[in-house]
Amino acid sequence: MILKFPDNFIFGTAISAFQTEMGSSKESVSENSDWYKWVHDENNIKDGIVSGDLPENGDGFWDLYREDISNAKYMGNNSIRLSIDWARIFPDNIEDIYANIKYEGENIVGVTLPKNSLKEMLSSSNQKAIEHYKEIFKFIKDSGLLLFLTLYHWPLPLWLHDPIKCHDNIETCEKKGWLDDKTIIEFGKYAYFISDVFSKYVDIWETINEPDIIASQGYFFGNLFGFLPGVSDISKAFKVEKNLALAHNISFKNIKKFNKNKEVGIGIAPQYFEPIKNDSETTRFVKFIKYLNNEWFLNATNFGLFDNNLDMIFDEKIENIVPPDYIGIDYYQRVKIGYKGLPDVPYIFNIDLLPCEDCTDFMWDIYPQGLRFVSNELFEKYHRPLYILENGIADAKDLKRSRFLIDHLIELKKTIDEDKIPIKGYYHWSLIDNYEWARGFSMRFGLYSVDYNTKKRHPTKAVEIYKKICNGEEFDEQYR
Ligand code: BGC
Repeated sequence: MILKFPDNFIFGTAISAFQTEMGSSKESVSENSDWYKWVHDENNIKDGIVSGDLPENGDGFWDLYREDISNAKYMGNNSIRLSIDWARIFPDNIEDIYANIKYEGENIVGVTLPKNSLKEMLSSSNQKAIEHYKEIFKFIKDSGLLLFLTLYHWPLPLWLHDPIKCHDNIETCEKKGWLDDKTIIEFGKYAYFISDVFSKYVDIWETINEPDIIASQGYFFGNLFGFLPGVSDISKAFKVEKNLALAHNISFKNIKKFNKNKEVGIGIAPQYFEPIKNDSETTRFVKFIKYLNNEWFLNATNFGLFDNNLDMIFDEKIENIVPPDYIGIDYYQRVKIGYKGLPDVPYIFNIDLLPCEDCTDFMWDIYPQGLRFVSNELFEKYHRPLYILENGIADAKDLKRSRFLIDHLIELKKTIDEDKIPIKGYYHWSLIDNYEWARGFSMRFGLYSVDYNTKKRHPTKAVEIYKKICNGEEFDEQYR
């Protein structure tokens, strides 16, 4: 079988800083973020909110990046997606550094830095970390790969967020992270600074990875997924999502200032929601869940339209919002949904989630057709080019990864060829096994598996298949 993609199609693999950098040396460890504090917290470990695995025992990409990037190159990838660690670059509080702030009503719509502030930021930053990132980027460029850089893949510096105090009491904690408008301003400054420092190396930019997940898992689902700060309050979840939309918009403009001709976008994690019944109540309910999960954020960032009370009617229009150059899709699973219809329970809590049919180790439901469906739907709604920025499987025994990869790429090809949806690239999650947030090292997403004791990388079966697909070569269909 041959899966031939367009000539300029981007094939890559993705990783993120917190999930892969630490583990190889003292320098590789970055301790000043909220996630670092969260996963080390003894009560969180005791209560089973987090696994007890520690990120400083991880991959060590910080030192072993040459080997990993060479493996990506070996697979015929022409790009790699990674993120940088805000808390590593700015471990100390820099709120005092002045920024020009532009408001529309009460909303922050612009944050820029005068020259002096940019200089101050440079002298307050961790120069060693910046130089090290430059070395990694240079190696990527010298290997002939396009660098796709995500500015923010989840951890916040501790000077902006105390996840433990906020978990204990979200009303009284002082450092409220994304619930606080201050974080929007600091993100604007960070984006301005980073694009000044790194634009020479970066080919494609992403502002924020999956703002929808940060908001829902951190502020709606309480302790269920172990995401910080483990709060369960829907109005707070959507305040966070609004702040992330504003932060994206500001950082988009700031990156564009230094990267006029480069693409800058945002990636979310849309799921394929399938109603378990066809009756009108279930259909209406699934439409609502899909709206909250797949559309709310993109309505805000593409059209400036906000629905602040979640009644599916826009109640605020912000003019100073610029649509992104592309939308990134992180697609993993189908979710089958029913409506419980319990009278005394808030509408959203009436959700009935059905178990997976074809399960990953995470008990996520494998459903490749969902990738095609979601891509069609988001393109029809938002008319932006698309990238698949994540798609992958937790599969420690390496039993389903090859089939997963092939079947998703078959659907992707149909989406491009038959549906004519402009999808410009595909990044598999993940290049190497990585630290899976609250679940630690148990979930194995890597195309290359990692022995965390020896730090040795081993190719999974899918490596040779991905290599053949990236190179447009024939591969054996029996792997499915
Ligand atoms: C996140 C990754 C994570 C992956 C698998 C995505 O939502 O961006 O950080 O490892 O899913 O759970």
